[in-house]
Amino acid sequence: MLIQNASWITMEGAASTAVPVFRKQFTGGKPVRSAALEVTCDGVYEAVLNGRRVGDFILAPGWTEYRRRLQVQSYDVTDLLGEDNTLEITVANGWFRRTNAPWTGTENPDEFLPAMLIAALHLIRDDGSEEFILTDDTWEVSESTVTLSGIFIGEDVDMTRMPCFEPARICDFPKDNLIPQEGPEVHEQETVFPCASFRTPRGEWVIDFGQNLTGYMVFETEARAGEKLSVSTAEVLDREGNFYTANYRSARSQLHYICREGRQYYKPRFTFFGFRYLRIDEAPEGFTADQIHAVVLHSEMKRTGWLNSSDPMLNQLFSNIVWSQKGNYLDIPTDCPQRDERYGWTGDGQIFCRTATLQYDVRQFFRKWLADMRAAQHDNGWVPEVIPSLTAYKPGGGAWSDAVTIIPWQLYQTYGDISFLSDMYDAMEKWIEYIPTVSTAKDLWTGCWTYGDWLALDAPEDYHPATIELAKRGYSNDDLICSAFYANSVHIVIMAGRILHRDVRAYEALHSRITAAFRERFGGQLNTQTEKVLALHFNLTDQPQALADALADQILACGTKLQTGLVGTPYLLHELSRYGHSDIAWSLLLRKEYPGWLYSVSKGATTMWEHWDGIKPDGTFWDDDMNSYNHYAYGSVGDWVFSTACGIQPAEPGFARARIAPQPDPRVKHMSAVLDSVHGRIRSFWKYTGNGIRYEIDTPVQTEIVLDGQSRVVEKGSYVLFGGQEIRRNPAGNNAV
Ligand code: BGC
Repeated sequence: MLIQNASWITMEGAASTAVPVFRKQFTGGKPVRSAALEVTCDGVYEAVLNGRRVGDFILAPGWTEYRRRLQVQSYDVTDLLGEDNTLEITVANGWFRRTNAPWTGTENPDEFLPAMLIAALHLIRDDGSEEFILTDDTWEVSESTVTLSGIFIGEDVDMTRMPCFEPARICDFPKDNLIPQEGPEVHEQETVFPCASFRTPRGEWVIDFGQNLTGYMVFETEARAGEKLSVSTAEVLDREGNFYTANYRSARSQLHYICREGRQYYKPRFTFFGFRYLRIDEAPEGFTADQIHAVVLHSEMKRTGWLNSSDPMLNQLFSNIVWSQKGNYLDIPTDCPQRDERYGWTGDGQIFCRTATLQYDVRQFFRKWLADMRAAQHDNGWVPEVIPSLTAYKPGGGAWSDAVTIIPWQLYQTYGDISFLSDMYDAMEKWIEYIPTVSTAKDLWTGCWTYGDWLALDAPEDYHPATIELAKRGYSNDDLICSAFYANSVHIVIMAGRILHRDVRAYEALHSRITAAFRERFGGQLNTQTEKVLALHFNLTDQPQALADALADQILACGTKLQTGLVGTPYLLHELSRYGHSDIAWSLLLRKEYPGWLYSVSKGATTMWEHWDGIKPDGTFWDDDMNSYNHYAYGSVGDWVFSTACGIQPAEPGFARARIAPQPDPRVKHMSAVLDSVHGRIRSFWKYTGNGIRYEIDTPVQTEIVLDGQSRVVEKGSYVLFGGQEIRRNPAGNNAV
């Protein structure tokens, strides 16, 4: 890359929080045939050439394992060039220098670096001559109009501030980590307009967008120089209807904008917010709600999956799952987009991954993140609990760091692309080789830190009363959870290894030993719902039907309620259905009371909540500290709806052949799933009629259709089946949604 010839530059004496704008002025000279700009920085940047924004990548260069991989963007800027040119690139903290971020580790020197830029402009003239404009000390730099910026802070802007340019200083910073852009760019997506503007009981002026979203506010207004617009963000209102921000914790998440004279338009340039409500804390005279709107941001990804049903509450749940994916697939898969976290939690990533691959084409998105996971993996094999890694973080225990095996395997299942396995195989092997080095028991994974069945509901009231941190984990045995995930990771390495023609005999023997050790140690202690679910899901019990029946009884005995947390919930409905208890799976899905998937919907949720009772029936909050309203983990139920309720399953990786085995329930009149697989559109629809269930199935590949336990194999085409009989067939296919 040309950028290797450029120098890193910075602003002399600038504090790490300063947001400088770097400038280069140059003349176009002879007519230019093409002009390409390569650029990156230690933060996030916005490049503007002759007053026009370069590209539409928001928050470039994105978030990667920076010390090893820093993406460089290349833009064609031919159309932006003129005779006299001014290139301005503003650099803000972004994810690199996370001002006010907790837990990043004070030993992390990156937190205190000043803003730095590296760029190279390549001009090719009509006569074939070339010119290179590289960042060096001929560039100038000034403080920009952005006076404070941070992913968690938001943005402070002073449009009355006049630039004062001085020469930039060349600085020493690595270039061996520079790589071409890999991930899909983050782009502006839909625009959302306010649906209400009102005063709260406390007298606050609040604007409601009707949808919890990730993005920013955009406004256009007429103002006097020095007038201010200050905006705060919130996901929910409290029981009294007042603006509520405590769940953002230390994330200030505000915009403070000092106006210049006249008409002006602004949107934050170096941050993003998770919000449904805005509070206008201060505004220019005459400002009205229709002068502000919201723009949604997420990584570019094509929608591939749709769910629909006769039940409006279910449809709202499906919408909430999609919105939580959009809100948390912003360059990396995050736990939540609003509070002072927004990290690439490996556990949450793997929990939701299956649903995510069905709703959107996330191949490129995960290709980049998995490359960061490889870069972050330690030499001895441990995988950090968040990716990109943070210095203060630990190895993730069972179900978290196992993302290193689970996610590539899932991507292979959905897309049939073997490169996900070949790219990750060494990292997977290193991971399962690491576990025995830290475990206290042979052929199990015991005695290590883990988050357990995070947020499960089965801990007795007095469990771990001293530490709230531990009380959030439910009652499942940590060693059992870790050992079950160890078995699963070894199993995935075996399956991947076979596909890649590796010698996996030692792992096969290891897996048998883990299974035996698991039965010996935990076979008689499968007490909690999650413990049972894991033993079933990872095939670690020798009496699966009896265990599944016991799980069903346990759920019924506590009032048809789930008690599982992040670890058990994604598999719960699958295991119930697999062993003949789909009626209970449906009951859990349709449950409108806490805990149930439709409870949050009944409380007006427009995204998935972190807690089943983020807002309690009496309107109070679960907690201020850990209460995200845009947390996709429990949205993982989406894959049960696709693959079991509507029955769309890959019979071969990538749906090269399909299996469609719907399990309808009369409490829902009709339901459909559409999946644009890499082999074409698959659709499964069922409807209860007066005389029985009508099924409509479209498939682009040979498919085994299983209805009421009866199987038939069909070629590609569209089928209508009724009362177990095929009543219509259209081999040409019918691709209507
Ligand atoms: C995150 C979770 C994450 C967890 C680890 C939380 O703060 O929001 O979703 O997996 O930490 O237990």
